[in-house]
Amino acid sequence: MTTSKPIKPVRKAVLPVAGMGTRFLPATKAVPKEMLTVVDKPVIQYAVEEAAAAGIEQFIFVTGRGKHVIEDHFDHAYELEALLSAREKTKELNSLLESLPESGSVSFTRQQAPKGLGHAVWCARHFVGDEPFAVLLPDEILVDGVGCLSQMVAAYAETGGCVVAVREVPLEETKRYGIIAPTGEKGSMIAMSGVVEKPDPASAPSRLAVIGRYILQPEVFGELDRHEIGAGNEIQLTDAMARLIGRMPFHGYRFTGQRYDCGDKVGFLHANIAVGLEHPDISGPLKEILKSLKL
Ligand code: G1P
Repeated sequence: MTTSKPIKPVRKAVLPVAGMGTRFLPATKAVPKEMLTVVDKPVIQYAVEEAAAAGIEQFIFVTGRGKHVIEDHFDHAYELEALLSAREKTKELNSLLESLPESGSVSFTRQQAPKGLGHAVWCARHFVGDEPFAVLLPDEILVDGVGCLSQMVAAYAETGGCVVAVREVPLEETKRYGIIAPTGEKGSMIAMSGVVEKPDPASAPSRLAVIGRYILQPEVFGELDRHEIGAGNEIQLTDAMARLIGRMPFHGYRFTGQRYDCGDKVGFLHANIAVGLEHPDISGPLKEILKSLKL
């Protein structure tokens, strides 16, 4: 199971942001779920910053109807910048400018129908072309020290092939995730013989769940081309990945650091409290408020 191909660097990231965010209605009726804020940054910005820190140079958003404010968020806001400059609000102005990706490094394509994560990633195929790429599901905020994708890129530099972030979940939660079948572990890298989308606990091959970060080879597009329908009646990225196992190195990566599942109301509130407690401007007053709640 080795590849003679040289290990190419990961320069591009696909960020699927077409989901409707029904779990957050009515908040997400007119606002994309990716623009909900964790303290003072929209959820999507955490993923973009994590990708940039891992050396990603091209950000490919797969959007849908009603998501245009995501484009605006990663563009200049001239009136606002002029106003901040005139009022000498340098800190605010710099934070806006620092978070802006370089011109030409962001592209947008639309997933025209909600056919699943595999289909969303397939929609980015022409932007990715024939090179390895990362996928970041922005619902997952993975903070702490070295970002999850940076950890994965370092591990990938040794093995090549595909690497997916994994973490153990309670058995009753396997039906919410892609679950890998591990065959052996070396450090943080886990060799695997398969991956199954949302298995019942009784048939789950392990409790190791795929957590929203992937490094994939372009061969996955060949598998996604089949448009095969999988779990939940959707085209699953997991099914396409499963067909690559055995054809190239394929590993689960046990990442370190905190994980907040912002696709879920409780996880989203957890992220706000935890990130708020680390935020220099608000951690003090926030601690006082939490203490006063007398839980
Ligand atoms: C998707 C993937 C699943 C993965 C999960 C991680 O599921 O299909 O394999 O484990 O993201 O968050 P979704 O949460 O979109 O249903």
